Amino acid sequence: MKLIKLASISKKLCMGALGAFLLIFLPFHMGMNLCILRDDGGEWYRNVCHFMGTNYIVKVFEVVLLACVLFHIVLGIILAIENKMSRPVGYAVANKSKTHQGSKFMIWTGGILLVFLVIHFVDFYFAKTGLVTGKYVVKTEKVEKAFQEKAMKMQQGQLKEADLKELQAQYMAIQSLSGEKVAKNGKYFINLTKEELQQTCGKDFKDYEPDFYNMAKEKFHNNLFVVIYLLAFIALGIHLYHGVGSVFQTYGLNIEKYAKTIDILAVIYAIVIPLGFAIVPLKVLLTAM
Ligand code: HEM
Repeated sequence: MKLIKLASISKKLCMGALGAFLLIFLPFHMGMNLCILRDDGGEWYRNVCHFMGTNYIVKVFEVVLLACVLFHIVLGIILAIENKMSRPVGYAVANKSKTHQGSKFMIWTGGILLVFLVIHFVDFYFAKTGLVTGKYVVKTEKVEKAFQEKAMKMQQGQLKEADLKELQAQYMAIQSLSGEKVAKNGKYFINLTKEELQQTCGKDFKDYEPDFYNMAKEKFHNNLFVVIYLLAFIALGIHLYHGVGSVFQTYGLNIEKYAKTIDILAVIYAIVIPLGFAIVPLKVLLTAM
C-alpha cells in the first residue's frame, strides 16, 4: 500500500539525498560547537553564531536545511509505515541480513532524534526567531551609539518627559552592568535577559542576538539536560552508522570491493560526530567552565 503516490525507489532516492545533505551539515555544526570549548569567554563561538545569523548565503542554506530535515522526517515515517503495512504478519524466518537489522532501528533512533530536535529548537533555535526568550548579546559600541543619539535629541529638546526618564534609567542600567554581563574583551554586553536588554538599550532597539554561548553553558550545567543530550547522541551514532551505509546502498555504490571501506567509514563517522557533540556538554558539566 502506497501512502503517497511515488514509487518506493524514488522515495528511497529522495531519502538518500536528504540524508546525505544532513550528513554534510553535521560536521559543520559540530565544528561550530567545539568553539565553545575555547578559553576565550565565548568570543570565537559568538563570532561564528554572528556569522551564521547574518550571512545571506548561510540564511538560504538554513532554509534548505530545515526543509531537508522536515522532508527527511516525513518521508522516513511514510516509508516505515508502508514497510509495516506491506508485511503486517511478519516473516516466518527472521531476516538476519545486516541491512535489515540496521534499518529496524532507523525509525526508533529517528524518533528519539525528532524528540531531541524539538527540545533542541525550543532551547536554542527558537530564541533566534523570537519564538522563545533566551539570553542576549549586544555590541557595547552599538548600545553607546543608540544612547548618545537619544542624549543628543535630549540636548536639542526633542525628548518628552517620559523619554527623559527612560534615558536616565537606561544610563543607570548601562552603568550597573559588570562581571558576567560584560565580555572579557569589553566589546559586548552579554548574558542579558530580555528585561536587562530593554533597560539598557531601550524598547525600540533591534540590534541584538541570542547569546548562545551563555545559553549553552547554562543548559549544560544541568545534569538532566546533559543526560538527555548524551542519550540523543547515542541514538545519533546508531542512526548515522546505518544512514551512511544506506546512502551508499541506495545509490548502488556499495560494490563488494569497497564494502569494507564503506563500513569502516560509516563506523568512524558514527563515532567521531556524536563524540564531537558530546565533548561540549561533558566539558561544561565536569569543569568549572
Ligand atoms: C552539543 C550539542 C549541540 C549544541 C550546543 C547545539 C547548538 C545549537 C545552536 C546554538 C543552534 C542555533 C545556531 C544558529 O542558528 O545560529 C543550533 C541549531 C541547530 N541544531 Fe544544534 N546543537 C547541538 C547538537 C545538535 C545535533 C546533534 C543536531 C542534529 C541531530 C543539531 C541540529 C541542529 C539544527 C538542524 C539546527 C538549526 C539550523 C542551524 O541553525 O544551523 N544540533 N544548534
